[in-house]
Amino acid sequence: MANASRGQWSGRLGFILAAAGSAVGLGNIWRFPYMAGENGGGAFVLLYLACVLLIGLPVLFSELAMGRKTERNAVGAFRALVPNTWWPAVGYLGIAAGFGILAFYSVVAGWTLGYLGHAVLGDFGAAMTAEQSNALFTSLIGSPTQAIAYTAGFLLLTILIVRGGVSSGIERAAKILMPALLAILIVLAVRSVTLPGGMEGLSYLLKPDFSKMTAGSVMAALGQALFSLSLGMGAMVTYGSYFPKRENMPFAGAMVAVADTSIAILAGLIMFPALFSAGLDPAAGPGLVFVVLPTVFNSLPAGTLFAIAFYALLAIAALTSTISLLEVVVAYFVDERGWKREKAAWVLGSVCFLIAVPSALSQGGADVFTSFLFDTSFLDIQNIIWGNYALSIGALATCLFVGWKWTVGKGLESLEASGHVMPLRSAWAFVVRFLSPIAIAIVLGYIVLTGQYF
Ligand code: PFF
Repeated sequence: MANASRGQWSGRLGFILAAAGSAVGLGNIWRFPYMAGENGGGAFVLLYLACVLLIGLPVLFSELAMGRKTERNAVGAFRALVPNTWWPAVGYLGIAAGFGILAFYSVVAGWTLGYLGHAVLGDFGAAMTAEQSNALFTSLIGSPTQAIAYTAGFLLLTILIVRGGVSSGIERAAKILMPALLAILIVLAVRSVTLPGGMEGLSYLLKPDFSKMTAGSVMAALGQALFSLSLGMGAMVTYGSYFPKRENMPFAGAMVAVADTSIAILAGLIMFPALFSAGLDPAAGPGLVFVVLPTVFNSLPAGTLFAIAFYALLAIAALTSTISLLEVVVAYFVDERGWKREKAAWVLGSVCFLIAVPSALSQGGADVFTSFLFDTSFLDIQNIIWGNYALSIGALATCLFVGWKWTVGKGLESLEASGHVMPLRSAWAFVVRFLSPIAIAIVLGYIVLTGQYF
């Protein structure tokens, strides 16, 4: 039964674009390349692909199935399926993770606005050395006023769209912007691999060196797969809840995963050749993308225009993701607490801004936050806690729930509600019940036992 007041995607394409909009974002273009750079390049890429296939896809379909069946948010879906149990706690963890992720993600997204400003001023039209690019980055992220203002600006944009609701706000934005982003990434990748010295970067990305692998890199690959596909926190439960009953859900879910993974690999193909060509360190950390790209633009015809288009689209890709992060939290307050969408978007977005301030100040703006714990910045700690651990625990709980409590038969019924058959249905059932939860539990258990948290 369609619930008219909650809204629905206008069709399958609307869902694919909005869900791919949630999945594709800074996770692909900012987080994936630097994680790969810090964890040995090719070996990390292989591990990441294995995690997408064996854990990401099964969890994606589990979340979508729950959302479609219940037409509820992250908490409400558990409540509707198994009332009077402790399972909705998994949904609450998801909502906390959504908040936690939004509170650092909007800081990095804010940097893209700053870079867009520099691009508009023509700063990327002339040749830029690695040192100059580094200096620009450090001054932008280290300025307290700039960092806070950009974060606030980004959250404001997110609030304005989320308050518009599902199809008028979220879907309309994604429909135009996703294809434009893909086109520009392809041009950049072609330029990057043909730069002098680019081949070395390509082989770093494609040739696995397993000697660099640690328990931490396995955890990083798992966290990255979940983060990139927006899993483990109920975002896909919420997006699946707006999925029209007559449409083919297995196909739509698969398209989202294909789009997300291809864009991450494409970002790697842009970043690593350019990085080796400019003589930068692949393990440079969270600043990687921001420092590498300005060294490339001037080698393109109409470099300034290119830079403007790139940062505008990156900001928009980030926006379609922050929308989904805020939407998870807003949907809970609207469905379960009876808040008006408008009020929920403003109140929750503003609270998130307050939590984001320490992260915004943690990149040189205020010493307490720059080296907060274990010599790690507040932003990085948030990134690891919410982006790796909370999502892994959420994904593990989701597998156990769909595999054993709600049961895979009911999950399949929901996925196939339109009459379209789920390919590899028994493989999915097996993986959700056994392989994914065991694999996640081993990775988490190993980290806890060996204490290699960061
Ligand atoms: N998937 C987004 C990205 O890769 O940028 C980040 C994200 C969005 C994570 C929404 C989780 C989420 F619920």
